[in-house]
Amino acid sequence: MNLALIDLNMATMAGPDYGVVDDGAIVVEGGIIRWLGPRADLPGVDETRSLGGRWVTPALIDCHTHLVFAGDRAAEFEQRLRGASYEDIARAGGGILSTVRATRAASTDELFESGLLRLTALAASGAATVEVKSGYGLDIDNELKMLEVARRLDAESDISVIATLLAAHTVPPEYKSDPDAYIELVCNELIPAVASRKLADAVDAYCEDIAFTAAQVARVFAAAQAHGLPVKLHADQLTDGGGAGLAAEFSALSADHLEYASTDGIAALADAGTVAVLLPGAYLTLNESQRPPVEAMRANGVAMALATDCNPGTSPLTSIREAMALGSRLFNLTPEECLAGTTREAARALGLDDRGTIESGMRADLAVWDIGHPNELCYWLGRQSLAGLFVAGRNASLA
Ligand code: NIG
Ligand code: FE
Repeated sequence: MNLALIDLNMATMAGPDYGVVDDGAIVVEGGIIRWLGPRADLPGVDETRSLGGRWVTPALIDCHTHLVFAGDRAAEFEQRLRGASYEDIARAGGGILSTVRATRAASTDELFESGLLRLTALAASGAATVEVKSGYGLDIDNELKMLEVARRLDAESDISVIATLLAAHTVPPEYKSDPDAYIELVCNELIPAVASRKLADAVDAYCEDIAFTAAQVARVFAAAQAHGLPVKLHADQLTDGGGAGLAAEFSALSADHLEYASTDGIAALADAGTVAVLLPGAYLTLNESQRPPVEAMRANGVAMALATDCNPGTSPLTSIREAMALGSRLFNLTPEECLAGTTREAARALGLDDRGTIESGMRADLAVWDIGHPNELCYWLGRQSLAGLFVAGRNASLA
């Protein structure tokens, strides 16, 4: 039984100029796109559904979030507005560690329920695939708990959730005087446990003065790869710590943030085919002034993805479409780069080759929009323009 979506314009993101097909049709069967093209060429089908002249794009992909957490950091946000820096707060035991305390104290059900609200908000902004990181547990049981919640969000929602182990997010209080011993625990116990239970699809780390050194991250990455898990990195967000080069050395799927990445680091990302994930919500919330080197990325041919970084500390952002609107304004990305960054390139940043464009053989993950052109996806601020979301060919619930 196949279904043809008709009365639509589409941005396939599989060719130049958004891959636009005016007055197109898309045939879906078994959750997969079987045919697409001008409606005039539509082959015989079992059923047709009119989309009333709306636009269809690949469903959006939020490739970097920390949306499973307990509590919030609104008080810290206020402290920062009064002059404290993110690093000051982190060094005083707040920041990521305050969310760690709340997350450790929360039950699996509490984390699931609050995570589901944020996941649903992201879906209502057009996301059919959302990556979720651990990193607020920072011990074996609580990191596993966070990943189990991510797997449950995948199983019990309409959205496809990709889970990433971020145990090397910051040094847990128990290991303050011996961070290397924590790295040993992550490499020798946590990564093997996560790999054998298939609880994560990748391993991430935070390479920064207030987190882990390049040498510590390299040990985590080697352990991840020895267990068949691809890696990604929070790199060069607040300082140039050589993160981009380190990510490239390990052929990471992505290097994320990159405000302070060096010229050499960008060239290394290009050579390694590592995707740069840009996070304007964190840049905005931290009131940063150094933009990621977008011009150098373009010049070197580095693929750029765009994500919300949804987290309680630096980016309380639950709309992937709003992340596009911020990316265009704060980082000077073109509307087409923003849409590629939340579709085709975001899929690459997650190592997914079955979604991110509208092409025959891809998953039927499609977003339907009330817009006159795809450049409006960056243009409007705070406007709800999503009219429908198909995930593997099925209508997703948006409330
Ligand atoms: O991506 N940079 C580190 N991790 C998060 C912040 C997490 C937090 O502050 O809770 C980020 O910005
Ligand atoms: Fe992050």
